[in-house]
Amino acid sequence: MTDSVGETALWTLYHRSLAARDPECGLADPKAIELVEALDYPFAQRFGTDNRGWARGMAVRARCYDREVRAFLARHPRGTVVCLGEGLETQFWRVDNGLVRWLGVELAESATLRRRLLPDTDRCRTLTGCLLDERWTGEVDASEGVLVLAQGVLMYMAWDRVRALVEACAVRLPRARLVFDTPPAWFAAGTVHGWFRYPAGYRPPPMSWGMTPARLRELRACPGVAAALPVRVPRGAGLWWGVVAPVIDRVPGLRSYGPLSVTRLLFAPVPHPGRPAAAQPSHTREEP
Ligand SMILES: C[S@@+](CC[C@H](N)C(=O)[O-])C[C@H]1O[C@@H](n2cnc3c(N)ncnc32)[C@H](O)[C@@H]1O
Repeated sequence: MTDSVGETALWTLYHRSLAARDPECGLADPKAIELVEALDYPFAQRFGTDNRGWARGMAVRARCYDREVRAFLARHPRGTVVCLGEGLETQFWRVDNGLVRWLGVELAESATLRRRLLPDTDRCRTLTGCLLDERWTGEVDASEGVLVLAQGVLMYMAWDRVRALVEACAVRLPRARLVFDTPPAWFAAGTVHGWFRYPAGYRPPPMSWGMTPARLRELRACPGVAAALPVRVPRGAGLWWGVVAPVIDRVPGLRSYGPLSVTRLLFAPVPHPGRPAAAQPSHTREEP
């Protein structure tokens, strides 16, 4: 896992493992701790040890995605969850209901590592491939409902490719939903300018885009997109993630500037190519 985006899978794993050791974070993730202990990688040297704020933030994000999965499984217990760019996420073990079918899509090097550490089972497997290549949709059994997650990955892709992926999913997976990170523009710019460099030297890779009202309108105008909804961020630990971030997230107008922003797209039962943007539902808040 030598490229910088691939390494972010170790970065997020490390922070989830730190969060899992901190009861205040509310993230039970023993599998993440297990993986960090199993991997021969200098986590502490690379990412440092004074990471409480990042760990709390990763815990909030993981709990946000977990809540999306649990809400989906409550309605579709035998549904399929697809995780694009799954890296070394251990979410399956946090939310498994004993019935869900789980499909990860990963690039070759990361997929090989993942399968070595987390071997495929009959309900949980990793597919080697590029998430931008829609052939993975052919591997999805959509008979019991589909939830597609893209946690921490689409912001590293060119915006046009992201929009094309959304359009492909809407056509190939009608009725599915896609949940993904939509970082604010200031945060994406910060990664480009190196604002988040760690004292230990690690620098998160530059994000290609940040969410803006214009981009949101583009998503809503994609054929087959029935709605684009902000996902409410759970309350986390500490002053920032427990007070400031939730307030920002709940105040209309401020929300798009919050440090953690997640969006849920709902795909129409039958795609309507060419439907004018004005006919799309508005971007309103909805709780799972
Ligand atoms: C920041 S990591 C996120 C991993 C995981 N989703 C998480 O939140 O811990 C990004 C992951 O996306 C994967 N990735 C990057 N480009 C990809 C692509 N084109 N197709 C599939 N996976 C990709 C990387 O290998 C890496 O594992």
